[in-house]
Amino acid sequence: MTISLASPLQIGDLTLKNRFVLASLMRDRNPGTVPTELNVEYYRQRVTAGLLLSEGIMIEPLGSEWTNAAGIFSEKQIAGWKKVTDAVHAEGSIIFAQLWHAGRMTHPALQAGQPTVGPSAIAAKGGKFRQLVGYV
Ligand SMILES: Cc1cc2nc3c(=O)[nH]c(=O)nc-3n(C[C@H](O)[C@H](O)[C@H](O)COP(=O)(O)O)c2cc1C
Repeated sequence: MTISLASPLQIGDLTLKNRFVLASLMRDRNPGTVPTELNVEYYRQRVTAGLLLSEGIMIEPLGSEWTNAAGIFSEKQIAGWKKVTDAVHAEGSIIFAQLWHAGRMTHPALQAGQPTVGPSAIAAKGGKFRQLVGYV
């Protein structure tokens, strides 16, 4: 049996209009961790997919390894995301938030000097983000 990617897909209570899914892609376009109109535009441009997965979204102020990553722990951030979800729903698509905490990969420079918090005491080695102090 051949199933077209353009055909709807039932996942639990959700009906996706097609089987295309946008992968989570960190865009780093959130000044002060707050999503803006640029995020609304970015996700609206991709609503032809049946399901959009958001970029990783910080669940608390200590969770980031990226500059300008989005959060969802303050009223301002939530209001920014509400504009995104409203725009996506208005265009007939669905969006899931990818909740994110970078654990031992977080960096004090991104969290007002607060130390890194992770599930183990083993330090991360090497870093992708060479603009931050201490990464080699
Ligand atoms: C710029 C960039 C940002 C990304 N951001 C995320 C992210 O926020 N969350 C995540 O789970 N994966 C993220 N990824 C991984 C992509 O989702 C992944 O590359 C995509 O699903 C394709 O899979 P592949 O790289 O294994 O082919 C990112 C990748 C890139 C290149």
